[in-house]
Amino acid sequence: MAKSLLFVLLFSVLLSACIPRGGATRPAFACGGGPAAALPFCRVALPIRARVADLIGRLTLDEKIRLLVNNAAGVPRLGIAGYEWWSEALHGVSDVGPGVHFGGAYPGATSFPQVISSAASFNATLWELIGKAVSDEARAMYNGGQAGLTFWSPNVNIFRDPRWGRGQETPGEDPGVASRYAVSYVRGLQQASGGPHGHGRLKLAACCKHYTAYDLDNWRGVDRFHFNAKVSKQDLEDTFDVPFKACVVEGKVASVMCSYNQVNGVPTCADPNLLRNTIRGQWALNGYIVSDCDSVGVFYNTQHYTSTPEEAAADAIKAGLDLDCGPFLAQYTVSAVKQGLVSEAQVNAALTNTITVQMRLGMYDGDPSKQPFGNLGPGDVCTPAHQNLALEAARQGIVLLKNNGHALPLSPSHLRFVAVIGPNSDATVTMIGNYAGVPCGYTSPLQGIGRYAKTNHQMGCTNVACTGNQPIDAAIAAARNSDATILIMGLDQSIEAEARDRDGLLLPGRQQELVSKVAKASRGPTILVLMCGGPVDVTFAKNDPRIAAILWVGYPGQAGGAAIADVLFGKFNPGGKLPVTWYPQQFVDKVPMTNMAMRADPARGYPGRSYRFYTGPVVFPYGHGLSYTKFTHSLAHAPAQISVQLDGRRASAHNSTEPGRAVRVSHARCDGLAIPVHVDVKNVGDQDGSHTVLVYSTPPGTRWAPQKQLVAFEKVHVAVGGQVRVKFGVDVCRDLSFADEYGIRRIPIGEHSLQIGDLIHTISLHAEDLRR
Ligand SMILES: *[C@@H]1O[C@H](CO)[C@@H](O)[C@H](O)[C@H]1NC(C)=O
Ligand SMILES: *[C@@H]1O[C@H](CO)[C@@H](O)[C@H](O)[C@H]1NC(C)=O
Repeated sequence: MAKSLLFVLLFSVLLSACIPRGGATRPAFACGGGPAAALPFCRVALPIRARVADLIGRLTLDEKIRLLVNNAAGVPRLGIAGYEWWSEALHGVSDVGPGVHFGGAYPGATSFPQVISSAASFNATLWELIGKAVSDEARAMYNGGQAGLTFWSPNVNIFRDPRWGRGQETPGEDPGVASRYAVSYVRGLQQASGGPHGHGRLKLAACCKHYTAYDLDNWRGVDRFHFNAKVSKQDLEDTFDVPFKACVVEGKVASVMCSYNQVNGVPTCADPNLLRNTIRGQWALNGYIVSDCDSVGVFYNTQHYTSTPEEAAADAIKAGLDLDCGPFLAQYTVSAVKQGLVSEAQVNAALTNTITVQMRLGMYDGDPSKQPFGNLGPGDVCTPAHQNLALEAARQGIVLLKNNGHALPLSPSHLRFVAVIGPNSDATVTMIGNYAGVPCGYTSPLQGIGRYAKTNHQMGCTNVACTGNQPIDAAIAAARNSDATILIMGLDQSIEAEARDRDGLLLPGRQQELVSKVAKASRGPTILVLMCGGPVDVTFAKNDPRIAAILWVGYPGQAGGAAIADVLFGKFNPGGKLPVTWYPQQFVDKVPMTNMAMRADPARGYPGRSYRFYTGPVVFPYGHGLSYTKFTHSLAHAPAQISVQLDGRRASAHNSTEPGRAVRVSHARCDGLAIPVHVDVKNVGDQDGSHTVLVYSTPPGTRWAPQKQLVAFEKVHVAVGGQVRVKFGVDVCRDLSFADEYGIRRIPIGEHSLQIGDLIHTISLHAEDLRR
């Protein structure tokens, strides 16, 4: 009796394990049954390396070549289905690539703020949590047959020039912040488990793109398909490559994408030095290298880099490219092999890299419903928790740029009517920026504000371009008859986007006129809200005493309007900081977008780029951001001296212990060489709030070092009257070093001055030759 009951119980447990709980409904990609399922490549117990080798050994050359492209063909005789490699998830599952389809059980996905907004939170925990939420939704959509598992996100190019249309997709201009963003988001997306150093199983495969020095789309007739970025070894080493290296080495990303542009005359997707030597050699990528979409075709057809298409295919594969987004490699690689331009062994090496990632994703493990994450389904998408995280991220990304006389927060009890004005005042799709999907729903700024006060809505400008006849007078009248005025201005994808760089930094068309006229007529305080990815020159508003406060909200995602209202009315105390320098218009008048140099060249009147090198006037500096409360810093602990131990045998060639010199990082013993810096943060204002402690360092003067560089940051929440100790470890070899003219990283010897808010602390760095 007991025995048969046990049997029934066991049976029903087994049965329920086989029924997908609204999870996987898609058939197995491979190894799902039939005779092929018994072959070694399907045996989960074998090492992945052996399974991949077994599979490749069974493929004909023609079959192999058809696996070199994003819409890889199936191999029916081996029970392997076709696969679309191209899915996107920059800030939520996106249908920009052909791998993702919304509809049916998956009508939408949580749309988090655009990356530039999330970056402004300076909260690495948040970045990883967003990645994790996106990976749940993406894996659920894969199970439902509506997404792939290989996502070509994040974009970690440096936001070098304020005009760049895709700057919104990036974590900003600082290489260290971009690195931390890349590592956090990739960890969240991939959820790697098992295997040495997180190289094991993957929930999703992320991709850091676009390698490298890609940050110009289309500016005054120069486009990304033709642009040859002339980049110094120095800037490549300590600016452009930094986030990619971190993404591969620390983030263990499963893929890197090469870009359209050339770097110093060589298309990046055909450059063995960049792909084979740097990404795969020095950084030891465990994953695949993919081209940007059609970039192999672009360097043949548009750049005329090779004389035959077979040479282009061979160059790409020999350089280290494993997968082509686009048809080019499928079309020309067979003849390239037949012409002897590339060997079948080199094709096998490329496939080893792509198929290994598919195996780590479990694609050759049979029925997806029986695999880890096989239970994720429609109930895991747009969950209240994910949508709440999107709201929280939007709040944390808002930056308070100006707040004269504590005009903000507004007090709803004192306001009968609030005028809500501007082309972005009722924004929905504008809030999700580019590389977005279909959100779960929207809260527009007008709706958000309407939760706190009665609104008097006027567009003022019918769109962000705001040219010609515009309903400005009606907006003025609304402001005159309201107790406070909120202007929601800025840009959208018609002004800044992929393939669309800006020409200037001013607000477009008559927007400035609208703001100034409304501010003049407004009966109550006027608040300017800027919704845009790249910076705008709003010097007029900064200086206008009638504009009491300015907020930058980036593209805040599906919940943006709720977050904006929560900040305006004081439900949330803003703590975001600018992830890019806000230059004045004169900067772009003087500096061609095509000049890649980060470092200033005073002899030629070139001012340099980013807070690290540019010393000219700014509208708002990098890292700027106010709070409704006040924080103070005090130094609890930091050494006055640090000794860098040198490997004497190699350092002996030059006397590097002398002040004014700089030692090679490769000659220093870097293990565990972190400077402990402990900072106490006190909230001396009258509201609880979060504060990001930014630790900058100014190195001893050398010709090539930046004037200052962010070496650490951490966000902490501090209650009114409270104090929190933040403990940093400043990595000497990574954070205090810079590249010399030859691209060699060196640590300057001498006095490094740390700045934390108003605090300055000097650390004397000396080198110690171990032979003595
Ligand atoms: C290296 O420089 C230090 C400091 O200037 C000096 O004391 C030392 O004698 C030098 N050593 C050699 C081998 O030149
Ligand atoms: C960072 O973000 C997470 C997730 O939203 C949040 O829980 C945490 O409080 C944030 N940290 C600070 C200091 O605000």
